[in-house]
Amino acid sequence: MTSNHISKIIIVKLGGSLITDKTQPLSVNNEVLRSLSEQISQFYGKTTYSLIIVHGGGSFGHPIAEKFRIHQGYNPEIKDQIEGLIQTHSLMKKLNQICINALNKEGLQTYPLSPSTVFLKKKDDLKFSGRDLIVELHNHRIIPILYGDILFAPPGDFQILSGDTIITKLCQIFGPDSIQKVIFTTDEDGIYQKNSSNDDFNLITQITAKEFLKINFESFEEEEAISDVTGGMGGKFKEIREIVKLGIFVEILNGQSPNFLYQALKNQAKKSTIIKPT
Ligand code: IPE
Repeated sequence: MTSNHISKIIIVKLGGSLITDKTQPLSVNNEVLRSLSEQISQFYGKTTYSLIIVHGGGSFGHPIAEKFRIHQGYNPEIKDQIEGLIQTHSLMKKLNQICINALNKEGLQTYPLSPSTVFLKKKDDLKFSGRDLIVELHNHRIIPILYGDILFAPPGDFQILSGDTIITKLCQIFGPDSIQKVIFTTDEDGIYQKNSSNDDFNLITQITAKEFLKINFESFEEEEAISDVTGGMGGKFKEIREIVKLGIFVEILNGQSPNFLYQALKNQAKKSTIIKPT
């Protein structure tokens, strides 16, 4: 049975460096993926919240995108770049199917939205045409699942669309009245801040959006931008800032720790970074 009543949405990002082993091309961290799927299923069976899952590229998307410099846009001088573009998309679809299988095995019903067919870049504007589809899937209690992918920018250009950018766009489209919170699972415990007195890095456990927006992450962004086709941690902070500006609750946690995601879904995280709207 379906209804037109939409329950609030929790968005969960499964980080690419968490669900895959970034040091080995095309390798999956099966046990981590199984555990995350189990935690989501445990929560979903007992809640009325809707979910959207977005996963990253890790060792599936990044190496091939990097090889053909897909993130730098169309360049006819790069040999076989279009083949590289298609390969990037097809490897992301492969990883998506692996994620879907893991989630389905835990009893969840998921449905993939291929991001490169529902997102389009027009001039500087990111267009998304999948809103009604997500609402309809939620009406059936099906979990939409999206992933980092190719972003076409007609006429003639393309780039990489990160899972984090997808999340920002979904937050902008659905807004704080519909989005309950965004949880980023990563291979770190959360966000660390340098202690100016002794140069140590301390985990930020709770911070208000206002305080978070005052932190200067720029040097980090520049440093990290080189390491990854979607800007590494710097790219992630940029997106998190946009989400936080919308007045949406964000939590970042280590998905390698058993139960951390389940606890965060229940607002009972033991260790994480929580960014609260003021
Ligand atoms: C990257 O997506 C997608 C491609 C390289 C095609 P993300 O930027 O969301 O991936 P992770 O989480 O950093 O691996």
